[in-house]
Amino acid sequence: MEDDIAKVIISSGEIAERVSAMADEMVQTYGQPDEGITIVTVLAGSLVFLSDLIRRLPLRMRIALVTASSYAGKATTAGKIHLESTTLPDLRNRNVLIVDDIVETGGTLRLVQAAVRRLCPRRIRTAVLLRKTTKAPSDVPIDFVGFDIGDDFVVGYGLDYDGLYRNLPFIAVLKPEMYNAESAL
Ligand code: IMP
Ligand code: MG
Repeated sequence: MEDDIAKVIISSGEIAERVSAMADEMVQTYGQPDEGITIVTVLAGSLVFLSDLIRRLPLRMRIALVTASSYAGKATTAGKIHLESTTLPDLRNRNVLIVDDIVETGGTLRLVQAAVRRLCPRRIRTAVLLRKTTKAPSDVPIDFVGFDIGDDFVVGYGLDYDGLYRNLPFIAVLKPEMYNAESAL
C-alpha cells in the first residue's frame, strides 16, 4: 500500500495537532454552557476524523450517521450525489454539527445541510477536515476547517480511492498510475 503513494501532504502529527485545535474551537463555541450537540456525520470518509474529534470533545453529544455517495467506482470526479441513508433523528431545536471529511464542490454538504434544515434544528454548523479552496462554493457555509488544500485527489485518514487507503494515518496523493490501475483487491 505504501508503495502506491507519491507524496504525504499532511502528516499524522499535523493532523492530530489540528484536530485538537478544532476541538478546542468547538468547545469554545458549544461548551459554555454545555447544552449538548447532535453531530451528523457523513460516512464513510469521515469516520476516522469523527472518531479522533469526538474523543477530544468533552461535550454532551449524540451522533447520527448519513451516507452520501457521489464518486461511483473508481471515479475521481463527482457524479450525481445522493443521500443513501437519511434516517436522521429528531433534530427539532437541537444544535447540529455536521461533520464531513472534505468539501470540494460542496454538492454533498449542500444536500446534507438541506436535509438537516428540514428538521428545524436550532442552529446548524458544519466542520470539515479538508477544503479544496479552488472549488469551494460560497453558498455552503463551513464553520470549522482543518486544512485548506489544492486540487489534487487525496487519500488517507478516512478518504478513499476506489474504497482503498482509508486506513493510512496521513493524507497523501497517490502515484498517477494508481488512479487508473486495476485494483489488486
Ligand atoms: P463535493 O460534494 O464535491 O464537495 O465532494 C465531497 C465528497 O467527495 C467528499 O465527502 C468525499 O467523499 C469526496 N471527495 C472529494 N474530494 C476527494 C478527494 O480528494 N479524495 C477522496 N474523496 C474526495
Ligand atoms: Mg464524503
